[in-house]
Formats: sequence, C-alpha cells, structure tokens
Amino acid sequence: MPPALRIRDRSNGPFISSGLMKRFMHAKVPSASPLQLAQLKIRLSRRRLLIGGAGLVGLATSATGAYAAGIEPLDLVVTPYALTPPGWPAGRKLTITVIADLHAGGPHITLPHVAHVVDTANALRSDLIVLLGDFKAWYRFKFEPIDDPLWAAELGRLHAPFGVWAILGNHDWWHDIKGVRRALADVRIPILENEAVLLGPAGQRFWLAGIGDQLAHWLGPGRFRGVDDLPGTLARIRSDDPVVLLVHEPDIFPTVPSRVALTLAGHTHGAQIRVPLIWPSFVPSRYGARFAYGHIVENERHMIVSGGIGTSIIPARLGVPPEIVHVTLGA
Ligand SMILES: [Fe+2]
Repeated sequence: MPPALRIRDRSNGPFISSGLMKRFMHAKVPSASPLQLAQLKIRLSRRRLLIGGAGLVGLATSATGAYAAGIEPLDLVVTPYALTPPGWPAGRKLTITVIADLHAGGPHITLPHVAHVVDTANALRSDLIVLLGDFKAWYRFKFEPIDDPLWAAELGRLHAPFGVWAILGNHDWWHDIKGVRRALADVRIPILENEAVLLGPAGQRFWLAGIGDQLAHWLGPGRFRGVDDLPGTLARIRSDDPVVLLVHEPDIFPTVPSRVALTLAGHTHGAQIRVPLIWPSFVPSRYGARFAYGHIVENERHMIVSGGIGTSIIPARLGVPPEIVHVTLGA
C-alpha cells in the first residue's frame, strides 16, 4: 500500500511553524515533572521567579534538543512547488520528484527509512525522479552503516516514465567516490556529470543536465577544486528545448544563464538547525542564507534548493524536516 503523503505548507515559512510546534507539543520529549508543575502554581518571589525562569529555559532547551535530535530528523514531508519559469513552455506540464542528501546510514536514516523515502517518492508518480548527491552518511554519528548494495537496491526501486537520474555530491567525492559510482551503476541509475540528455516525447522534449561536484577535491581549509563544467555541460545542449539543470551545491547559481529554465540543488540541508537568532549560521554556502533553501528567483532565473533527507556534521534537524521536493513545471 502506498504511504500516506504529508504535504508541507510552505506558507508557514522556513522556521518552526505552528504545525511543527503542535507536533512538538505532542511529541514524547522530557516534560515538566509534577513537582515542577506544582512549583509553577506557587506565588513566586522575585528570587523564585528567576530560579523558575532559568529552570523553564533549561527544560525548554532540553525538550527542544530532544525534538531536534530524536524526532524531527525521522519525519518526512513532501514539499510542493508549482511554477512556469521563463524558458519553460506555458502549459507543458512536467512533474519532477527530487531526493537530495539521503546520507543513508546516519543515525536516523536506517534502511527502513530509506525504503519509506523510496515508497513515498514512487507514490508521487512524477514524470521524472532526480537524486542530487550525498548518498551516504560519513560522520562519526553513523550508528547503523548500511552496505552500499542495500541502500542502492532501495533506490533501484524508484521508477518514473522519464527515468531516475543522479548527480554526485561533495561527500560522495570526499569519502568513497568509487563505491558510490559502483552502487548506482549496479542498480542502473545513470550519473549526469557534466552531461545533458534529451528526454520526453516528440514535441515536448526537454534537456536534463547535471554538473560535476563543485567541492570534489579538498585542498585545505576552505579551499576546494571542483569537477564541475557548466559551460561544457551547456555546450552539449543542441536544440532549443527547455533545460532543467541539476547541481549539488547551489552556489553556482549566479553563473547559471537564463537559458536554463530551472536549477535544482541540495547540499545545504536548509541549514538543518533553522531557528531565529542562530539561523543562518550553519548554511554551508559562501552566500549565507541567500541560497539556503526553497524557491529562489534572481534576474528571472529560478532555482529550488531542497532541504534534503539526512543530516551532516550534527545529527539533528530543527525547523527544516526531511523532505522530498515535488516540482510541477508548466502548471
Ligand atoms: Fe553536500
């Protein structure tokens, strides 16, 4: 049976929404003890008020931390976008399901969770499914490593009329590029690496292009050499048909020409911890919050950045639940 889809209401904005807070309030996290509740009913002296306030802050902090570390990362929502950007023919409908930053084997992304992501993606019945890189978890919080053939076999169950296509991310390059390539090849998921393919039926064709990773080789603190070739990729486009471009890191967006109707990106995880005051401290982008998440329009060029599925650096999410993006072009 297909899974029930939970469609995210983006009008709630990027931070902790009222719906999220409602789930938070009902979540099984450490709650106030009877003693603490009784204390709240006591008429507080100024000193007691200060002590009680500090206690409540501690309680809220621990409860929020428990939610961020143990509950939100296990969530899965579908975030819909409907748009007809310049460069995409009006009325030509194309649906795309986007899975970014799976990080399989991380503390929350167990094999059953990967299967749930795949089932949910298939249930959307999109024309096309794209995978935007960073397939495995690499950090020290990798509690339940998943062998490559297992997570890849789950991804191999994805299906769409115009195919399932992948690009590679920085973590794929940094840790096990050969293993990830082999795993995807074994389940016949092609990797677009400075390549473009013409898809769709006659009269409704479109180009799907993907570039190599922009941070592929670590040269030192803050220094990288990419394997991306945007001009070379676009040179492979030999007709006037519209173009959808896949990139792992969104930072390339300022150099993407208007010839590209839509750019799809991942990598940022939407910053993972997305709350006022702290946000956007954790966005892995030289542009800070500019390309951190969502539908970005600059000079009539359009990009959608997915918050992705897994976690990196710290095993927690707050205000940006794991998501599958569902794009409808030409709606
Ligand atoms: Fe990444």
